[in-house]
Amino acid sequence: MTKTGRHATPRYRRLRATPAIRDLVRETTLTPHDLIQPFFVVEGTNKKEAIASLPGICRYSPDQLVRTIADYQKRGGRAGLLFGVPRAKDNRASRAYAANAIVPVAIRRIKKEFPKFLVLTDVCLCAYLTHGHCGVVQGGVIDNDKSLPLLAKMALAHAAAGADFVAPSDMMDGRVQAIREALDKNDFSNVGILSYAAKYASAYYGPFREAAGSPPQFGDRATYQMDPANQREALKEAEQDVAEGADIVMVKPALAYLDVVALLRRELTVPVAAYNVSGEYSMVKAAAAKNWLKERDVVLETLTAIKRAGADIIISYHAQDALNWMKGM
Ligand code: PBG
Ligand code: ZN
Repeated sequence: MTKTGRHATPRYRRLRATPAIRDLVRETTLTPHDLIQPFFVVEGTNKKEAIASLPGICRYSPDQLVRTIADYQKRGGRAGLLFGVPRAKDNRASRAYAANAIVPVAIRRIKKEFPKFLVLTDVCLCAYLTHGHCGVVQGGVIDNDKSLPLLAKMALAHAAAGADFVAPSDMMDGRVQAIREALDKNDFSNVGILSYAAKYASAYYGPFREAAGSPPQFGDRATYQMDPANQREALKEAEQDVAEGADIVMVKPALAYLDVVALLRRELTVPVAAYNVSGEYSMVKAAAAKNWLKERDVVLETLTAIKRAGADIIISYHAQDALNWMKGM
């Protein structure tokens, strides 16, 4: 009570008065260590192919990828998630798990130059199968259990090449266990699993499918990826993946699913990653190109918001730019 007998007006603005005070009381701080940059890798040499739907992102051959990663590291980047774009597809995804497949080749190249650079790899069959689905197709349906051995073989090929983490994104049931068992049996118990645990059947993946050449040739992914309307199911999926041996669980996409990020952070003890996907990136790039918004500010606000929601790790196409912008913060 004040002298006049009235309650003092709360002065919340005191804590916003100057940059020093705001810095002092800030609850969430984005750091370079939180970020993982996705990289697309193609066969061949001396290739750097722009991707129209993802301005600023390219497909690199392994020799060029190493140069890009050198630059990324100079900015403070320490981790990348690799996506392979094979020259040829077939109905067994043979180019997904061959020892000389594009991703294993790229991993060896990176690890030779930069042994400490953290290499994560997307493990999924869609870019390697003719029909573009994430699992093996039998009689027009995606056969869960027939897909597991191929996913495990793919993960093994990445581990043998030196991957630090494999990241299964296929959404087949039981794949984390199949991969964990295959890794352990082959002396790769040190290789971790970041599972795309709550991966939604999202329209935000549109630009990625152009980048990776992986749109399904028939139907959609709704029989294996999650219904965007569901939240409890995400917890069920993530708990199951942890039980099967996932070290880190991911929510994907990020922005339309921050409630799911917050839920998993609250309910689980493992690190939670969020994937700020291609469509989320391309929307910002398109609006920024028209000067409709300030790219730097929107990106830093977005990444901070994903972290505030509970993500310990953020996978984002913006990472390479954000690292530069964060230096000025
Ligand atoms: C492949 C895969 C996809 C993404 C990551 N891994 C596409 C899909 O499921 O259709 C999406 C990444 C992005 O949109 O940035 N299973
Ligand atoms: Zn897939």
